[in-house]
Amino acid sequence: MRAITVSPGIANSARLEDIPDPPESDGPVLVRTLALGVCGTDREILDGRYGSAPPGQQRLVLGHESLGAVEAAPAGCGLAPGDLIVGIVRRPDPVPCLACAAGEWDMCRNGRYTERGIKERHGYGAERFRLEPEFAIRIDPALGILGVLLEPASILAKAWDHTERIGHRARAWQPKTLLVTGAGPIGLLAALMGMQRDLDVHVLDHNKGGPKEALVRDLGGTYHSDPAGLERLAPDILMECTGAVGLIGACLGATAAAGIVCLTGVTEPGKVFDVDIGRLNRTMVLDNDVVFGTVNANRRHYETAAAELARADKRWLGRLITRTVPLERWDEALEHRKGDIKVVIDFRP
Ligand code: BGC
Repeated sequence: MRAITVSPGIANSARLEDIPDPPESDGPVLVRTLALGVCGTDREILDGRYGSAPPGQQRLVLGHESLGAVEAAPAGCGLAPGDLIVGIVRRPDPVPCLACAAGEWDMCRNGRYTERGIKERHGYGAERFRLEPEFAIRIDPALGILGVLLEPASILAKAWDHTERIGHRARAWQPKTLLVTGAGPIGLLAALMGMQRDLDVHVLDHNKGGPKEALVRDLGGTYHSDPAGLERLAPDILMECTGAVGLIGACLGATAAAGIVCLTGVTEPGKVFDVDIGRLNRTMVLDNDVVFGTVNANRRHYETAAAELARADKRWLGRLITRTVPLERWDEALEHRKGDIKVVIDFRP
């Protein structure tokens, strides 16, 4: 079968190649891949700046944003041939730590977790893959190809879960305003979930006009291409979805009192930025502010995300997928083109 593989640590080493069928050791559920989403993490792996192959191997099958159709599953596992599924990315560490033992591998304490298509475990970017039933999420067939948005949506389901847990440290917490920085897939899904919570949603992105602005407007939110004036917004919740160092600096301390800043972008180390820690600390202490980071998602988050996608406007979700390329032209999917939001590789023949 064909698979997109890469040698992690070596830039531009990706290729489409023939590899053996997925081993039974990956799990008893056999899945035919329908689509694979591409994200910034994949591009970092391709640039040789992130990711690792399984122990003792050189190459890694890329891909963690999956959508596939079950071909075979053990009786009684809750999955049947034809079901549309998405594979969970992370697997618990082998110790396991307390978090992984409790099914919260997204909160792994020892860093020995593995991730399909990212860290020490082959990904979903092959014509067929296998996985364990407990790491497969069945999706509403009405979603069809939009199911490929489930993995990124799970990241936001977790971000919202933790934001709300933090918010409820104060008995009378009632957030009204959300500011999202970045109108990529993560930012737009954050905004969607903010609307689903009846918040006054604002999105900041450097693009002027175009599909991102229209998507925010059609959601009922307010789009800003200029940060000027936003300091008066004082959002109750700020979701930082760009990973841009300067912007992160500006987000800290920019919320209303008891505000929550949720950081979702994985940045590269080595970018130094001047911050007035005295001012920041004073603001955060006197205002009871919280800044927290979030990564990955556990099964509960995938299930919440599946429900949130199922009740979203399908036409709006469809507009997040701005480019679909066939597997033969996989490399085009990994190029960054103007106007891209989510690019998907189509594995269907
Ligand atoms: C993936 C997460 C993963 C993170 C760090 C993200 O792109 O969506 O599942 O945990 O990268 O590797």
